[in-house]
Amino acid sequence: MSLAAGPGRGRVADGQLPDDLKLVVDKHVAYIKSLDTRRDELEYHLTEHLRVSGIYWGLTALHLLGQPDALPRAGVLDFVFSCLHENGGFGAAPGHDPHMLYTVSAVQILAMLNGFEELETKVPDGKMKIAKFISKLQQPDGTFAGDEWGETDTRFLYGAFNALSLLGLMPYQRPNDAPLIDVSAGTAHVKACQNFDGGFGLSPGAESHSGQVFTCLGILAIAGELDSHLGEEGKDRLGAWLSERQLESGGLNGRPEKLVDACYSWWVGSSMTMINRLHWLDQPRLTKFILECQDPDEGGIADRPGDMVDVFHTVFGIAGLSLMGYDGLLEVDPA
Ligand code: FPP
Ligand code: ZN
Repeated sequence: MSLAAGPGRGRVADGQLPDDLKLVVDKHVAYIKSLDTRRDELEYHLTEHLRVSGIYWGLTALHLLGQPDALPRAGVLDFVFSCLHENGGFGAAPGHDPHMLYTVSAVQILAMLNGFEELETKVPDGKMKIAKFISKLQQPDGTFAGDEWGETDTRFLYGAFNALSLLGLMPYQRPNDAPLIDVSAGTAHVKACQNFDGGFGLSPGAESHSGQVFTCLGILAIAGELDSHLGEEGKDRLGAWLSERQLESGGLNGRPEKLVDACYSWWVGSSMTMINRLHWLDQPRLTKFILECQDPDEGGIADRPGDMVDVFHTVFGIAGLSLMGYDGLLEVDPA
């Protein structure tokens, strides 16, 4: 993240939003800080199976809001380390089995908090241990499983590329090392998931879904193959499909005939940013939609106006606003 200007920045004309419709920054900070103190509530226990990811979402939102220290750094790192297994994988919470998704969230938290030094003190060669957990999940066809039992999914392939890249090990530590993963087998699989409409599905032949579009573009971007694979024509076709995700309310859906949802502000918006087509969206109307999904009193953002807020829609709503250059937010890397 940085404060530098990006392609979509500054396009939200203030005059096009009702005066009282603003990002309630302080309320969102208070909402995120309150999540860890609600340990006597059912919701806290129901979300234990994704705790590390929940912390990642909250922490990312706080960083974008310019309040990176609002959660106690040492406490967060202790919690993350308590989820680490001998094999280098992280579970969602202490005692939970290691899994790709929580390992990626843990690495993202360590990167955000500059916690790699503490990792190496606690676990010698910790970065390489994590990378080996990830690399062992790659299958002969280039895909990745989520854990030793699980099915493969482009989310896991994206997670592997993202985490190895943050660890500085993508795909190897030094030029003469053997690569930890087979990058070209991974990107070949992604290319096989692309459809005639320009979008990408969960597996070859599966319906295009903008969540999968995000993961597949992210993989190609991290591998440095986005421009060579898509070309301007491919970006136009995909950009057209993505811009059709915007409906009358200004919000975006994930695929045709589905409901709008604030989290697609990120999955669609980051995808359009990666292919330099974010300006094909009506950004003032999307901004208005996201702001209408806020709880203006208690903070947090919901999938749709009036629904219950949660930390997942809070971070991806704020990240969507950041892509559009909303005033005061740090800039987020779309990949
Ligand atoms: C709902 O699908 C799915 C989402 C709202 C998330 C989509 C995002 C991804 C698949 C990318 C996730 C990436 C990582 C790295 C974790 P649905 O079919 O239930 O919803 P729909 O009705 O909106 O299509
Ligand atoms: Zn959603």
